[in-house]
Amino acid sequence: SHLTPLLAIETSCDDTACAILDAHGALLGESVLSQEDHAALGGVVPELAARAHLKALPELVELTLQRAGLELEDIALFAATTGPGLIGGLIVGSSYAKGLAMACGKPFMGINHIEGHILTPRLPAVLRPDETAPAFPYLALLVSGGHCQCITVEDTGQYRRLGGTIDDSAGEAFDKVAKMLGLGWPGGPALEKLAREGDPQAYSLPRPLKGRPGCDFSFSGLKTAVARHIEPYGREALPRQVAADLAASFQQAVTDVMADRILNALALAPQVTSLVVAGGVAANSVLRQRLEEIASQHGITFLAPPLRLCTDNAAMIGWAALERLKQGEVPDDITLAPRPRWP
Ligand code: KG4
Ligand code: ZN
Repeated sequence: SHLTPLLAIETSCDDTACAILDAHGALLGESVLSQEDHAALGGVVPELAARAHLKALPELVELTLQRAGLELEDIALFAATTGPGLIGGLIVGSSYAKGLAMACGKPFMGINHIEGHILTPRLPAVLRPDETAPAFPYLALLVSGGHCQCITVEDTGQYRRLGGTIDDSAGEAFDKVAKMLGLGWPGGPALEKLAREGDPQAYSLPRPLKGRPGCDFSFSGLKTAVARHIEPYGREALPRQVAADLAASFQQAVTDVMADRILNALALAPQVTSLVVAGGVAANSVLRQRLEEIASQHGITFLAPPLRLCTDNAAMIGWAALERLKQGEVPDDITLAPRPRWP
């Protein structure tokens, strides 16, 4: 395409990311900066995140160009996430990309962050040499700190949302329960580690929405149930075994709920040929294994992009832009305003 190489920027949450892709989707250069400060503050602080994106972008773009062995003038198209996400970060990242586009006299394309996540399994960098990209339609389960939804990907630009969370995201649930158990942030990885010492049957926790029709998720009742088991200990430190048993029981409950929702999704979309999982929570090995079993029972392929491309990154934004170009879209988004919510 005459619109490549393209440079993409992602700033919708706490990671500042930049990537350069060629016409085939090969990653010519990539850099990500995670904002470590948030860990110390126990979560993402939107205002701090926006400032940090602004501070990081000039050097990050320069570094990515260097890694690709390119000059700014070589870039034919600039893309950035324009939603959904934290508005401060979206404004910073998309304005920066628009500024570069205007300065270079090149077009700008605004990309939906969720579209980036769910098209990632088609990115060449994700595939082993012997693998082909998943064909449409496929089922995508997106589970991270910011998202929790189940979508059928029918074609580029044709998505059907089968369900989503009605309260917390899966990642938030992991993070909040981890905090109650006295673990650090982000809580998911620490909770999974502790759960290995625990008994998943030790506590009988609720499975919100399990057995109900549809593909929605709910985690707040589960979180409250964990809190009730912690209450009796008051200000005392939780005994390690209690914490480990609660972690294991919680993880089991989340996995059961996800499995139930995915089974409903597969019944609603029987034509899908693969199940794809993306987002930070996809790192959870208990969940991953359960989803893999479900896929194999249904005779469909299971795909989980490597973690670095599963979590927020700019390669997925560049790839979504490429897929849109392939569909004949003409980039002309210089006046497009970012939107924190984008159904
Ligand atoms: O995709 P991601 O890096 O960014 C956001 O969307 O925020 O997802 C981060 C989320 C956090 O909530 C983190 O606790 C969760 O993914 N996470 C996990 C695991 N690793 C990361 N949750 C459960 N088990 C894990 N192993
Ligand atoms: Zn994301």
